[in-house]
Amino acid sequence: MSAKKPNPPSSLDAYYEPSKAFSKAARIPNKAAYKKLYNESISKPKEFWAKQAKELVWRKKWSKVLDWKAPFAQWFVGGKINICENCVDRHALSGRKNKVAIHWEGEPGDQRSITYDQLHKLVCRFANVLETQGVKKNDCVMIYMPMVPEAAVAMLACARIGAVHTVVFGGFASESIVDRLEDSGAKFIITADGGWRRGKIVPLKPVIDHALEKITDVKKVITLQRCGNPVEMLEGRDLWWHDVMATASTKHEAAALDSEHPLFVLYTSGSTGKPKGILHTTAGYLLGTYTTCKYVFDMRDEDIYWCTADIGWITGHSYIVYGPMAMGATQVMYEGAPNFPDFGRFWRMIEHFGVTIFYTAPTAIRAFMKAGEELPAASDLTSLRLLGSVGEPINPEAWTWYHKHIGGGRCPIVDTWWQTETGSIMITPLPGATSCRPGTATWPFFGVDAAILDDAGQECKAGEDGRLVIRKPWPAMARTIFGDKQRYRKTYWSDYEGIYTAGDGARRDKDGNFWIIGRLDDVLNVSGHRLGTAEIESALVAHPAVAEAAAVGRPHDLKGQAVAVFVTLKAGFEESDALHDELIRHVGEFIGAIAKPDDLYFAAGLPKTRSGKIMRRLLKELVCQGTISGNITTLEDISVLEALQAKVVAID
Ligand code: PRX
Repeated sequence: MSAKKPNPPSSLDAYYEPSKAFSKAARIPNKAAYKKLYNESISKPKEFWAKQAKELVWRKKWSKVLDWKAPFAQWFVGGKINICENCVDRHALSGRKNKVAIHWEGEPGDQRSITYDQLHKLVCRFANVLETQGVKKNDCVMIYMPMVPEAAVAMLACARIGAVHTVVFGGFASESIVDRLEDSGAKFIITADGGWRRGKIVPLKPVIDHALEKITDVKKVITLQRCGNPVEMLEGRDLWWHDVMATASTKHEAAALDSEHPLFVLYTSGSTGKPKGILHTTAGYLLGTYTTCKYVFDMRDEDIYWCTADIGWITGHSYIVYGPMAMGATQVMYEGAPNFPDFGRFWRMIEHFGVTIFYTAPTAIRAFMKAGEELPAASDLTSLRLLGSVGEPINPEAWTWYHKHIGGGRCPIVDTWWQTETGSIMITPLPGATSCRPGTATWPFFGVDAAILDDAGQECKAGEDGRLVIRKPWPAMARTIFGDKQRYRKTYWSDYEGIYTAGDGARRDKDGNFWIIGRLDDVLNVSGHRLGTAEIESALVAHPAVAEAAAVGRPHDLKGQAVAVFVTLKAGFEESDALHDELIRHVGEFIGAIAKPDDLYFAAGLPKTRSGKIMRRLLKELVCQGTISGNITTLEDISVLEALQAKVVAID
């Protein structure tokens, strides 16, 4: 590998090499070192992972590294461990005691820095609170909070006592909470009065109260006072965080848990209306997030790391809470919107905190691009040494802008491909070793046997599109869909025998780089967030005026994809601008603002096959191209399409 060109030309398909100095200092300093370790990790995965696992704190060593009865894996069988102890105690009780774990900034500008020692005390106190309130090992606890340190404290405290957390993104609406309470059976909720977003208070506790009108068996709701907005407290059920914490002891012994003890359930969209509860367990997940922080971010004690994700998504779980804390990192956590009060906020924060590693999403980068390069230029970003991207394919224009205007042409960019289900990063450059090329996530991480297969299960040739699969189990893989083993098997493991199908289309170029093309199923990726078309359709048909609905994605400059919906009304309802706006608002209120359709078309009928299946493929063509060129021979009634075509063109 050549390290001669640290500042490559800004060509969109050039290879970008890390500087010699960067490579020299990196844990994996060149391609040969990557290949050697990668080959070892694939030929002897148990030995590879056992060696990595020795860096964790164990209460009892495992007796067997892997028990694999496809599609169900058990890693480090017989071992006892506590993930909270690995993330907090081992730093708090050692040389990192006074090291800052979290530099937090609230949207209004308030700041707090919390050391590992202080974090330890907070987590111990909250673990005592949970136990006092009756939370037991294996109980499910829902967390619905803004981006405040207490959200991480709540997660870690659950993990400490062996309770299973299910974090719900603070932007989800009460109906989404109802679904998740029903599915997870959570009887305890941790929330806040509200959080700050774009200068306004986003109420959270009132949303929980609304959900609890339907779900009546929740025993306790603990509410953090963040914004001071008025909330109602129900006697006997509702408690203030500050009241229960005031008397709680700072001493707490972390439970020794089985390696496979359930850690969390995180809901994600699939191709049916019901979100899937992805279950992750303890030791393997910890090892996956730890090892990727070590090699992908090449995290060091001196680093100031910042991942801008929300804790309600998998990126927040793996790369704010568990991975970086297992590494004993210092990180920045931010409560609010990237454009409050303007798009310079992140850059000023990078300068203020001296951020060295910055991990964000392409959708944010595109918004920053649009806001202009003067904003990053106004801050000193020279502390940065490494950049990351996650959540959706990054277009080469955004990649090169990020590289030039944020990374100053000197920072490698790790474009990390992974999923809620994979738990940790799977395909990614290693910053000191990989030649990066804008738009490709490059090569598989250690232990990840990634391939691209055609329908017959044959490996695709270079340049051919196929399905992205993983052929061997890996430690941080999901263990199942909570309460639905059959759905787990069918969704991910039924395309090819014993092989995980990710649901993404991909191709490899002649140099072997993986290019992720996008989802193959009915899942949209809007601003890096996964949304099921069926979820949006279910929300629409829950409205009294709607008879039938179909949702599809179309390309969008900033968000990657936008949501377009087609709606047929029930008899007695008239098409109108007011109803158009009301239906869009209704989806936002039902699921959350991220799901609000960008385009809504009323339709007298939807294109269907003779067996009655909506042909979304045609609708997609219509919103993307304005016309239909694909095969329509199976269509039941062609006039439906003609009417729609006139409408979409007319509106556009
Ligand atoms: O389509 C892929 C896309 O995001 C999906 C996973 O979404 P989620 O489970 O919400 O997790 C997002 C954060 C890990 C994938 O199936 N995706 C994620 N990262 C990338 C990506 N697509 C292309 N390039 C990436 N780096």
